[in-house]
Amino acid sequence: MKYRKLENTDLWLSEVTFGAWAAGGWMWGGTERQEAIDAIRASYALGVTSIDTAPIYGQGVSEDIVGEAIKGLPRDKFQLLTKYGMRWDLKRGDFAFSSKMNNGDDIDIYKYAGKESIIKECEDSLKRLGTDYIDLYQIHWPDTTTPIAESMEAVERLIEQGKVRYAGVCNYNAAQMAEAEKYVTLASNQVPYSMVKRGIEDELVPYCLRNQKSILAYSPLERGLLTGKIKPGYQFASGDHRKDVSFFKDENIKRTDDFLNMIKPIAAERQIKLSQLVILWTLQQPGITIALVGARNSEQAIENARALDIELTEDELAIISGYLNQLELVS
Ligand SMILES: NC(=O)c1ccc[n+]([C@@H]2O[C@H](COP(=O)([O-])OP(=O)(O)OC[C@H]3O[C@@H](n4cnc5c(N)ncnc54)[C@H](OP(=O)(O)O)[C@@H]3O)[C@@H](O)[C@H]2O)c1
Repeated sequence: MKYRKLENTDLWLSEVTFGAWAAGGWMWGGTERQEAIDAIRASYALGVTSIDTAPIYGQGVSEDIVGEAIKGLPRDKFQLLTKYGMRWDLKRGDFAFSSKMNNGDDIDIYKYAGKESIIKECEDSLKRLGTDYIDLYQIHWPDTTTPIAESMEAVERLIEQGKVRYAGVCNYNAAQMAEAEKYVTLASNQVPYSMVKRGIEDELVPYCLRNQKSILAYSPLERGLLTGKIKPGYQFASGDHRKDVSFFKDENIKRTDDFLNMIKPIAAERQIKLSQLVILWTLQQPGITIALVGARNSEQAIENARALDIELTEDELAIISGYLNQLELVS
């Protein structure tokens, strides 16, 4: 495993950081608790020392699973990244969407990052994770009902108290990052980025490069699509959000698969899996610091953690770019 330091911190994260959204089951058609725990431990054994989670992932389930997976391990040997600002137990802030919990109960989710709420959320996360500090504490989504100043001052307070080491954001644009920076030193922004989702390259990547901010790329496998295992007609489990996402329309699966078939020879030549090629590509893009990769079980986790043994050459990157330029997806 290789490690990279987050900007403005002394926090080193594993280049492949374990993403624990699917581990919480919510929006992924449920979770196999023991498989998720085994996946985290298998990753750790291969040097994946950083784990990203959030209270909303399974409404506490993901954080709880992470807490159990790391129990007994030396705390200073891994880095815990979690979030605040998505409430399912308080109707306040920006209404986000309605959803179902893993047990089938209906919930309404709000983006809310008021000061008292953040302080409470932090205490709850610390308990579930079984730790007394969070390495990187990130707002999950912008909350337009609360001034950014209020949210960031709350995090600054938590840093002073030693409950949080560093502040990050997720899904912020450049202007929101600049505003947040007036109140706290930001280490990073966690944003969607994959071969087929490159919107951040226009504005956010240049901003982060100019202002020394790290980018944590989330869903680099485009939620499994870029592993090549998903074919037209693929049946998702009930409750799996992917069935409603445009990337998983049959026509887009087909077009993506054609593209994947074109880059397969590079993976074959290097004797790596397609998913590993995709992770390597992600980590070699300008401005990208970390790939946040989800895994449902040990097998996936091991494959993802082993992606980093080689580096892609400039020629290989150029060939992939060429094919990507020809790929057009339908909306
Ligand atoms: N801040 C935010 O708003 C935000 C949003 C999204 C994600 N994230 C973070 O980013 C992390 C990663 O993103 P993600 O989980 O959405 O997507 P991802 O990493 O692109 O894809 C993960 C999914 O792909 C499948 N998969 C993974 N490795 C595989 C392998 N080697 N072979 C075959 N299938 C494999 C698994 O699902 P199946 O087996 O079910 O196909 C897995 O759950 C999340 O866990 C979360 O921590 C943050």
